[in-house]
Amino acid sequence: MSIVFHEEKKIFHLYNEKISYIMMVLKNGHMGQLYFGKRIHDREDFSYLVENYSRPMGSYVFEGEKDLSLEHVKLEYGVYGSSDYRQPAVEVLQENGSCISDFQYQNFSIEAGKPKLEGLPATYTEDDKEAETLIITLKDNLTGLVLKLCYTIFSEKGIIARNAHFCNTGKESLCLTTAMSLCLDLPDYDYEWIQFSGAWARERYPKVRRLEQGIQSVGSMRGHSSHEHNPFVILKRPHTDEFHGEAIGFSLIYSGNFLAQAEVDTHGTTRMLMGIHPFGFKWKMEAGETFQTPEAVMVYTDEGLNDMSQIFHKLYQKRLARGYWRDKTRPILINNWEATYFDFTEERIVEIAGKAKECGVELFVLDDGWFGKRSSDRAGLGDWVANKDRLPNGISGLADKVSRLGMKFGLWFEPEMVNKDSDLYRKHPDWILQTPGRKNSHGRFQYVLDFSRKEVVDAIFSMMDELLSNAKISYIKWDMNRSITECFSTALPADRQGEVFHRYILGVYDLYERLTSKFPEVLFESCASGGGRFDPGILYYAPQGWASDDSDAVERLKIQYGTSYCYPISSIGSHVSVSPNHQINRSTPLYTRANVAYFGTFGYELDLNKLTQEEQEQVKEQISFMKKYRELLQYGTFYRLSSPFESNITAWMTVSEDRKTAIVGWYRVMNQVNGCYTRLRLQGLQEELEYEIEGSGRSLYGDELMNLGLLTSDPTSGQPEEGEFPGCDFDSRIYILRAKK
Ligand code: GLA
Repeated sequence: MSIVFHEEKKIFHLYNEKISYIMMVLKNGHMGQLYFGKRIHDREDFSYLVENYSRPMGSYVFEGEKDLSLEHVKLEYGVYGSSDYRQPAVEVLQENGSCISDFQYQNFSIEAGKPKLEGLPATYTEDDKEAETLIITLKDNLTGLVLKLCYTIFSEKGIIARNAHFCNTGKESLCLTTAMSLCLDLPDYDYEWIQFSGAWARERYPKVRRLEQGIQSVGSMRGHSSHEHNPFVILKRPHTDEFHGEAIGFSLIYSGNFLAQAEVDTHGTTRMLMGIHPFGFKWKMEAGETFQTPEAVMVYTDEGLNDMSQIFHKLYQKRLARGYWRDKTRPILINNWEATYFDFTEERIVEIAGKAKECGVELFVLDDGWFGKRSSDRAGLGDWVANKDRLPNGISGLADKVSRLGMKFGLWFEPEMVNKDSDLYRKHPDWILQTPGRKNSHGRFQYVLDFSRKEVVDAIFSMMDELLSNAKISYIKWDMNRSITECFSTALPADRQGEVFHRYILGVYDLYERLTSKFPEVLFESCASGGGRFDPGILYYAPQGWASDDSDAVERLKIQYGTSYCYPISSIGSHVSVSPNHQINRSTPLYTRANVAYFGTFGYELDLNKLTQEEQEQVKEQISFMKKYRELLQYGTFYRLSSPFESNITAWMTVSEDRKTAIVGWYRVMNQVNGCYTRLRLQGLQEELEYEIEGSGRSLYGDELMNLGLLTSDPTSGQPEEGEFPGCDFDSRIYILRAKK
């Protein structure tokens, strides 16, 4: 890995074995983008890549010359207003009303490793040899606004992490109205754009479309990254598939309002922008003040989408997630939400926990309803003290009982919210986000606490601190169940209201940081009505997230498949729930529910006492299976093999680091009478090794399994012999492959 500067032509070349990223200082002092893609030879002069023929209707930078129009060059951080007509990476409103800036190259520095981003989640290095960071300093001389563009190249794989930092060194006050984390101009538009979109209970479905002249974008203006769109998009070549071809993944490490956008201009170049959504964003910078954008990560591969995903998985597992739980397999948990909803007593909880312990579950999680006057979703949020009517021994008493059963204890919180019917709201009605004189919309009867205010975050921290310090709590489910409306902080002046959305998220990060620092061994699981804030920002604090409120196994195939494009299996919260399912009323076999949930953190969301004896025995087997294989399931190399969006069969697999053990998950949604012969071509095995397929009495070489495939036809479907299983809808199988010694 290297960052080279060619002095004469002022060209920067960042490269490792996989990629090259090349830029140069243009004739007018702006940073020009020259290349991002597969590694190429270094050379002194790449300036031939600046194509700036004069064009009709062009606007030119230098008087009397027609050789530089910003519209026709590729830029590192485009500015609107001076001959570049594309959407800008940055816009600065000045006291005289002008929005034009002119960021001139000043100098650069190179640091080993990767500097920390103050107050924001970001990827990190543990050893300086893992990455190198280039910081390019530019300045708008008229206003004194200094811009630092930071690029980290990791020593392995095609990863570049970027962010921008601003400092107002001038005298006037400035207002940032756009400040993207990345801007990347690509020389053509022969791409398909993949976004990950959906809704509550059907999050992160991949949606593919060809890039075309004009703008295509996704984003959130809801105050959280949202169920609707994820801050992750892919540009791939049209022929690229899971195993071959070029793709670039763009991921924003941020949990608030975001924009991801591709603009194809009239000459067929593509500008990618990613960062905080400019809509509703207005950040005031008095003289001397600074602003730091979130980090964006770009991953390039020419080996298909699975390779791109595996790069993200490893990076986010090992160099975004942190702390005690980062490398550990996750406890098998039981959560009482779908078992009881708000209707429980201590006795009932202990009964559920007792049976779970008997089946091998390791952690009991008490969900919503344990605090304040929370007997429904109309009251109690904000009062983080145990409801003594339900829990006469308080949280510490219940936690002791659960721990005496031999299990860990976990607790649900929704720290950012308040019901009007709560002591907290009665005491501090001004602590919510609300616009003076306007009606305030509610969501699930709750209001959003103003986390842009330190005293609000302090108060919530002290309530949570009290509980965590006095009860044996090993896990927290941090929920967030509504989007933000009437966004206004009564603590900020008029000219800083455009900062509230971002300051709110900084407050969320601050609370996470304080809690994870003080209680490093507590496992945090994020949740936002399921997957409404399943993003890399939160992953920095909470190494796992409840992927969706939809716990139906068939629905989960799509949700978990889509989620796996960016996020590691160890981060995907997945449970076995009751059948018929509570969200979609579908009945599925218990084994299929487990076969889907194994590819995640794994747990149960039901009362095991209500299962038959036979089902309870199945649950015991499932749990011992998960305990045996969870290291491989959660940390192995994951491959998507067959997509639920394209086929009746979903299949995926995970392979151990030494490529000697693999687990394949195979799922058929609808049964087929007298069905087709089917095979599944596997991935990631060693060609020359012979693998035993557990339970089949058969061993096959890696090259057989990868080239001609694993035979998955169902011999009994149609006319089963006496005693044979005819197959069923929502069927599934797990194949375990082990290399022979
Ligand atoms: C949200 C979560 C659920 C559950 C409920 C409790 O909907 O996504 O898992 O915790 O809140 O109110």
